[in-house]
Amino acid sequence: MIAPVGSGGALALGGRPGPVCMVGAGYVGLVTAVCLADSDIEVRLLDVDRDRLDMLREGRTPIHEPLLDELLISVLRRGTLLLCDDAAEAMRGAQVAMIAVGTPPLADGRADLSFVRAALTSTVADAGPGTVMVIKSTVPPGTTASMRRLCRRNGRQIPLAVCPEFLSEGSAVKDFRHPPQVVIGGDDRSACERVAQLFAHLDAPVFITDSTSAELIKYGTNAFLAMKISFINEMAQLCEHTGADVGMVASGIGADTRIGRAFLGAGLGFGGSCFPKDVRALDMAASYHGQSFGLLRAEVEVNSQARSRFVAKIQKALRGTLAGRRIAVLGLAFKPGTDDMRQAASVDVIRHLEDLGANVVATDPVAVPNAARMLPSTTLVGDPYECVVAADAVVIVTEWPEYRSLDWHRVAQLVRRHIVIDGRNCLDGDDLVQAGFTYISVGRPTRHPISKSAGRWKRQAADLVGQPPARSMRIA
Ligand code: UDX
Ligand code: UDX
Repeated sequence: MIAPVGSGGALALGGRPGPVCMVGAGYVGLVTAVCLADSDIEVRLLDVDRDRLDMLREGRTPIHEPLLDELLISVLRRGTLLLCDDAAEAMRGAQVAMIAVGTPPLADGRADLSFVRAALTSTVADAGPGTVMVIKSTVPPGTTASMRRLCRRNGRQIPLAVCPEFLSEGSAVKDFRHPPQVVIGGDDRSACERVAQLFAHLDAPVFITDSTSAELIKYGTNAFLAMKISFINEMAQLCEHTGADVGMVASGIGADTRIGRAFLGAGLGFGGSCFPKDVRALDMAASYHGQSFGLLRAEVEVNSQARSRFVAKIQKALRGTLAGRRIAVLGLAFKPGTDDMRQAASVDVIRHLEDLGANVVATDPVAVPNAARMLPSTTLVGDPYECVVAADAVVIVTEWPEYRSLDWHRVAQLVRRHIVIDGRNCLDGDDLVQAGFTYISVGRPTRHPISKSAGRWKRQAADLVGQPPARSMRIA
């Protein structure tokens, strides 16, 4: 166990409220708690999962998040982060209590609020006169207003605000320190301002508004970013029909500052613990009010098509049959920089390939343990070079930088067929074709091997994909 050095940690600095009680040591709660503690506010982190708390007490994080491990050890040593499994202890003297428990989707797509309700009820009982309760979890519009009644004690209304997070996995610590904005919603202005003080050391615009608008800022942000991804994936399909290059198209469109290049990366679409569930939950919230939010349904539909179209691309590259073919899948996590497999494209793609009779061997730098629970019948290996041995096709599903810098000449010696299908448009086509590969990506023209010694392969590959041998392709 890591014990604090020096006494008592920091209470309140320069008017910044503290101590803070954080409920939920998941991606959001843990990162937020550690970063607040790192800014010299005393934080008590409460979680029902005792194994998770024990792990944290040993200075180990249950999630793969850059910078978090060393920061955790530092705040435990400084005594600004305390790990609690008793709500009364965690709430003693707390000026702010933040609820960051999961809001997983229900079968119909609505957000399951039972954990938020339980966490709120179990902590508000120990709230002191000056405590502000804050919902940090992502909750549908109207939730905070409807839960205010849970925060009445002995006839006294304890302020309840909402403060949505905008942390991306894989860069959560950096995102906390440099947020695009801080959003706080509530009907008690001074309570919201006190919560805003927690982030006063960060250089970010602070929006204080009513709680429902704040909830919709969060959902709207995620839904809009997801829409950009679905839009560019639809454009990618049109690029394939017309011979255009979606990478260039996205850069051209994104150069318009009214649009921006961010989140115009074509490929296998969005996954993760947030976009898929938040888009559906927002759609359900709209239907609850009798509104058919067509855009949201379209972006979900486009997202699932991106995955099935990718499998069709692999089938076409291997002459339409996958039975008995060995497919090497590079990348399992829903995106690089995390071990999170929630709604990862790899699961859909691999299950689809296996349903079509393929033998899949897959790898990932960090997500193999989590993937093993979701893909029990898939061969999972740690080393990408081991993964590609005797492969009929190498498929990129997560754009880890490790794969971009693979020795593709070495890979060329290990595979059975020289075909790479890149679902994230992250590889350098020149490297691939010089190593003798046919390089197929999303929304971009297929590249064919150019080296003389690859001539033989060139004919072989062209035969394989049923096209006449192509003149060497010059990419704009
Ligand atoms: C968070 C938000 O809660 C969610 O709304 C948002 O969409 C994404 O980020 P996340 O941090 O990913 O979710 O949740 P998760 O990783 O599932 O962690 C939740 C933690 O809360 C777990 O450690 C769980 O043990 C804990 N928990 C859950 C409690 O301590 N008490 C509860 O009652 C329920
Ligand atoms: C997202 C939001 O970015 C964050 O602000 C919010 O708090 C939580 O949800 P995260 O889920 O960690 O964060 O991942 P993000 O980097 O946004 O990517 C989401 C998905 O979109 C990933 O599957 C990623 O591969 C995909 N994506 C992202 C694309 O397909 N193309 C892009 O251009 C960007």
